[in-house]
Order: sequence, then structure tokens, then C-alpha cells
Amino acid sequence: MLSIEKVNIKNFKSYKNYTLSLDKNFKHIVVYGNNGVGKTNLLDGISYFSNRKGLRGSNLDEVLPNDRLNEVDTHFKIKIKSLDNIFNLTFKIINEDNKLKKRIFLDDKKISLSTIKNYINIIWLSPYMDKIMYEGQTLKRNFVDKMITQNDSYFNKILLNFKKNIAERLNILKNSKDEKWLNLIEKKIANNIFEIFHIRRNYAKNLNVIINKQLNKFKKIRIDYKNKLFPNLENKDDLINLFLNELKNKRELDEITKRTNFSISSDEIYITDTENNISTDACSTGEQKSSLLTIILANCWKLKNENKKFILLLDEATSHIDRVNFKKLFNEVDKFDTQIWYTGTDKNLFQVIENKGFFIHLQ
Ligand SMILES: Nc1ncnc2c1ncn2[C@@H]1O[C@H](COP(=O)(O)OP(=O)(O)OP(=O)(O)O)[C@@H](O)[C@H]1O
Ligand SMILES: [Mg+2]
Repeated sequence: MLSIEKVNIKNFKSYKNYTLSLDKNFKHIVVYGNNGVGKTNLLDGISYFSNRKGLRGSNLDEVLPNDRLNEVDTHFKIKIKSLDNIFNLTFKIINEDNKLKKRIFLDDKKISLSTIKNYINIIWLSPYMDKIMYEGQTLKRNFVDKMITQNDSYFNKILLNFKKNIAERLNILKNSKDEKWLNLIEKKIANNIFEIFHIRRNYAKNLNVIINKQLNKFKKIRIDYKNKLFPNLENKDDLINLFLNELKNKRELDEITKRTNFSISSDEIYITDTENNISTDACSTGEQKSSLLTIILANCWKLKNENKKFILLLDEATSHIDRVNFKKLFNEVDKFDTQIWYTGTDKNLFQVIENKGFFIHLQ
């Protein structure tokens, strides 16, 4: 089991100096208290060990306490225990040449986010994600892409490669327009697009199986990718030729608009509530929350099935979902052999956890 045993915070958002020691006998950690006491900030700090901008997507100057913007002395430390290891992780905000930077350390050694991901993933649900379920394609696509990255470092590599290649192509279009060079880079881009489309579909397929088999008591949804330009994504060589044509045909447009008009965003993602056979965009607020939770829990199962370790942060999971659904959620997450953090304004919301949880009252 993976669990955070200690948290120490200095000058992070609303926290000046704060230490929290957790009882290792509990895997369910409930943080409760009134609006604005710092529940989300606490989870946000933990999320920085898995994400550059944390669960609220804050810039570094928003992380410093707003009454201490000139004196940069911020750290957030966690002690994580796994079955056979103890990790003392720290992130610090430093001022380097008048620029704020974040540095992460394992004990006293600098470490990268991608190295931490080999050992620990922090997965979260936060109210900031609610709009994913009803607000268009881009948010949904990026959200699932991010989850794939958590599972598959190769996918991350291809995404970065793709971004580098399209920047290089736009640069050639702006400057030399060298035909040979363009052909070469477009070949690379077409291959990147093919791989990204392919990995996305495989991931969705895997998740759909998990949702049906392993999450059988929770809200049922299905994820599908469709591409209007290429409804049939079977033959690799044919497809790469089609992608190459698209890129070539759009050279002029791309040069004028300074963007890549045929890209991985031509893929459309559909999330369907399979119980009611309706897009989640049209579901009720509570159903949307449960659908989002289904995707996150299925992703957790995928990590678990692949023996990858994670800690789950559920910020305000109780909002919008009723007691019956919260009980179902609790029964599902209780199957994971890992620490789960919950926040809420009222202790009574967590009655189902009762004596199985470690309760922290923030004031
Ligand atoms: N950079 C900062 N410096 C100082 N205070 C900050 C900073 N950023 C946010 N805060 C404050 O932190 C406080 C706690 O915010 P947080 O989101 O953690 O509250 P919460 O307990 O989750 O509340 P809610 O129940 O409403 O979700 C807020 O009052 C906010 O104004
Ligand atoms: Mg909050």
C-alpha cells in the first residue's frame, strides 16, 4: 500500500507553517472544514508531485502566499511510504535570476516529475474538472490524453515529438519553404498522428473493458473516438498517405493562419452514458460527476492492473452525488490498496467511511 505519512508546508498559498502526521492504520483520509479553510490547497500541494501546475493549474506566482510575494521561501514536503520504500519528496519554489522556478527533490537530490511517475502517480478529481463532461471536445480530449500519459510514457514522448515537429514545419513554411525538408517533416508528423490516433483508440478500448468488467456496480459509460475525415482507421500505409495529403494541401492555409489546421485535434471523442444511451453532455450534473468518476476509477484500475502505484485525491467528490452514489464510490475505491483523500465541508457527508477513516478538521 502507498500512503502519505507526513506533510509539512511552508508558505504555500494560504499555509504559512503547517505539519500533518497521519495514522498509518487508515487508508481513507478525510479533510473537512468550512469554505476557504485550505482543503483544496492541501490536495493541490500534493498534486504538484505529479503535475507541473497542480490540480488548479496555478502559476508559480499564485502559489506564493499573497502577503509574502517578495520573500520566496516556499516548500511542500511529503513522506510517502510504500511496501518496501520510504520517499521523502519536497518541492521548493526558488527565485533564479528574478524568475520563479519549481524544483523537486527526493531526499536532497533533485528529481524530475517523469522519474517520480515511475514510482508514484497522484490521481485526482476536483470541481475544476466538472466542465469536462459538458464543455465540448477539447477539454475531453486533453483530459483523456493526460490520463494516457500517466499510463504510457511512450505516448508522452510521441506527443512531445509531434509538437516539436509541427513547430518545425510552421517555421519552414514561414521561412525557406524548402520542399524536401517539408516532405521529410510531414512524413514524421503523419507517423506521429497515426500513432497518437492508434494509442488513443487502444486506451479507450481498454478502459471500456475495465468499465464493464471491473467497475460493474458503478455508472456505466463508454468512450469512443471518431474522425470525420477518416472514418476507417484500419490500414496504416493508406492512412499515412491520407495524412500526408492533408498536410500538403493545407500548407498555404497553415502559413497564413500560423497554425497546423490538420492535427491530432481532428479526432473527436464521445463519452456516452450507456445506461441511458445518451451523451454525457446531456446528463444531469450528478450523472456527469459519476461519469467522470467512472473514467478516473477505470484509469486507476488500469494502473493497478499494470502494478503501477497511485494515491487518489477526491476533492469535493460528495458535491452533486447523492448518498447512494457516494457509498458506491466508497465501495469501489476501497478495493484499491492505496491511500485515498477526500474533502468536504461537513463531517456528516462521510458517514459511510465512519471508523474506517482518519478525519482531519481544518479550521
Ligand atoms: N496565493 C495565495 N495566498 C494566500 N491565500 C491564498 C492564495 N491562494 C489561495 N488562497 C486562499 O486560500 C484559501 C483556501 O482555499 P481552498 O481552495 O483551499 O479552500 P477550501 O477549504 O477548499 O474551500 P471550499 O470548501 O470552498 O472548497 C482561500 O480563502 C483563498 O483565498
Ligand atoms: Mg475546496
